[in-house]
Amino acid sequence: MSNLALVNAAPAQQPIARNLIAIASGKGGVGKTWAAATLSQALSFSGRRMLLIDGDLGLANVDVQLGLQPGSDLADAISGRKAFADAVTPVAGGAGAKGGFDILAGRSGSAVLHQLNPAEWARLMRGISALAGFYDVAILDLGAGADALVLNLAQAAQTILIVLTDEPTSLTDAYALIKRLAQHGRVKGIELLINMAADHQYGRRTAEALNRAARGFLNLELPVAGIIRRDPKVREAIRRQAPFMARFPQSPAAADVSALSDYLIRAQGLAPAPASPKIQGTWR
Ligand SMILES: Nc1ncnc2c1ncn2[C@@H]1O[C@H](COP(=O)(O)OP(=O)(O)OP(=O)(O)O)[C@@H](O)[C@H]1O
Ligand SMILES: [Mg+2]
Repeated sequence: MSNLALVNAAPAQQPIARNLIAIASGKGGVGKTWAAATLSQALSFSGRRMLLIDGDLGLANVDVQLGLQPGSDLADAISGRKAFADAVTPVAGGAGAKGGFDILAGRSGSAVLHQLNPAEWARLMRGISALAGFYDVAILDLGAGADALVLNLAQAAQTILIVLTDEPTSLTDAYALIKRLAQHGRVKGIELLINMAADHQYGRRTAEALNRAARGFLNLELPVAGIIRRDPKVREAIRRQAPFMARFPQSPAAADVSALSDYLIRAQGLAPAPASPKIQGTWR
């Protein structure tokens, strides 16, 4: 089945996981994967039990950025070889530990997500929402662009953070993605995350440039969830395959991701769940 057919076959109202935040972008290489992993760790430091899902087909690289060798991944869960809850890999002590989180890894080079039939697709969406329910917050790292898979996965999230930089192609591609989402009936819960900004003022200008187009052509005004400055420590952390917040807590980018985490907690009401056996990590 082609991707387009998948979109058309998808029910208009897919299940939405209330605590699922998707990270998307028009242009590639704008820092989605790094931001998704770093935000997961920042929210964990704020006491939330965190799950990070690698939803980037073919180029799955959350595990590479973090230097992990996951024993199982999303492909195992979709095929039914593993339960979704058994396919996660703990990072830095896993969910529940300060600065730790769980990841559901992707599989590089695998076209598995592109080959799903409608029944498998439904299983994937059910699996993701059920798994997200075990955590306070789940973050879904998506591939770049606006193909059918991205649009369908993004639809499952309560909030879609569109990552963009000040590069003209990043702006136009972000606009194109937002337009595609709007064409698929999705206008709520889309927010902007400016990355690699020279400074906060410059970042606000980038957001305003995007919003001018969104207001003029789509009648949309997108909230700015955060502005992350360009920071040489990001490249260094990735080179060392180390989670960023623990490695460089005093850096400008860490301060900006903490501010993003605080904003999301406030704006989305991402409260930690009351204590239960699950919360103590025994559910796995
Ligand atoms: N705030 C930042 N400051 C400096 N460099 C950054 C920042 N954020 C990301 N980068 C750099 O951008 C590169 C790309 O990051 P990342 O792989 O997370 O992007 P991506 O959007 O997930 O890419 P893809 O579209 O291929 O999935 C990283 O290697 C990192 O060096
Ligand atoms: Mg990526």
